[in-house]
Amino acid sequence: MQADEDKRLLHIEKLEVVYHNVSTAVQGVSIGVRERQIVALLGTNGAGKTTTLRAISGFLGVDDAKVTEGFIRFRGEEIQNKPPHQITMKGIVLVPEQDKVFDNLTVEENLQVCVSLKGGKTRKGAYDLIFRYFPALAHIKNRLGGYLSGGERQMLTLSTALLRYPQLLLVDELSLGLAPLIVEELMNLLMVIRNEQGVTVLLVEQNALAALEIADYGYVIENGRIVFDGDPARLRSHQDIQEFYLGQGDRETRKSYRDVKQYRRTRRWYG
Ligand SMILES: Nc1ncnc2c1ncn2[C@@H]1O[C@H](COP(=O)(O)OP(=O)(O)OP(=O)(O)O)[C@@H](O)[C@H]1O
Ligand SMILES: [Mg+2]
Repeated sequence: MQADEDKRLLHIEKLEVVYHNVSTAVQGVSIGVRERQIVALLGTNGAGKTTTLRAISGFLGVDDAKVTEGFIRFRGEEIQNKPPHQITMKGIVLVPEQDKVFDNLTVEENLQVCVSLKGGKTRKGAYDLIFRYFPALAHIKNRLGGYLSGGERQMLTLSTALLRYPQLLLVDELSLGLAPLIVEELMNLLMVIRNEQGVTVLLVEQNALAALEIADYGYVIENGRIVFDGDPARLRSHQDIQEFYLGQGDRETRKSYRDVKQYRRTRRWYG
């Protein structure tokens, strides 16, 4: 894990999350995210990525889940099991996997819901900022949310998140269901936003290739445990990660998940 306590904006240590008092979805996960970093949390279906983001953002209650062990510190303060509104007020904003936009509101109305005058910015200033990053949204501002393409929905979702002036942005599967070119464009935009706005990003992805293009550091989660971490070069050079997550193995000989026993033997377990 990334050490150096002082520089960690988010520090998760030995986190355990249990659904319905019986089902453990996350076991002993430790993650560090430093200020202004983009950190990727990579893993396949059901690995525990969304659960981890729910735990950070406080949205566990709706699914009858709880943090039962470990801690989540934001700027040194423990926030596990606090309600979502308290966590949002600290500057942590979740871009969820689904249900991100209001289908019956137009693009502009979706943005209006989130415009806050608190930060001293006028509504116009906020819109200018959004339309500078996402000029495509300006052209469709009167379109209903329900009619947007997948890429447009993601742009609108990122916009509404930005309008909350996040310090830590939690992004759940930015790439889901999108064409590779759009994914690349959105990832690049996320990096530009980080560079210009100083936002810190924890990016959950199955699409490791896309995430590692912009990440400063990455963790791989499997069955609720972190099994590998490192900078993008280290992650890319790991043979098994190349084959599972980056799809770089020879198709004929590519191993199935179950076949990679060597990965299972050699991976390091934390917690
Ligand atoms: N509401 C819930 N009630 C009970 N178990 C749940 C609930 N939500 C998720 N789980 C379980 O927790 C585990 C982790 O799920 P999670 O949604 O965090 O995975 P994920 O890594 O986000 O997967 P995906 O890539 O498919 O989104 C899975 O075994 C899942 O079945
Ligand atoms: Mg998920």
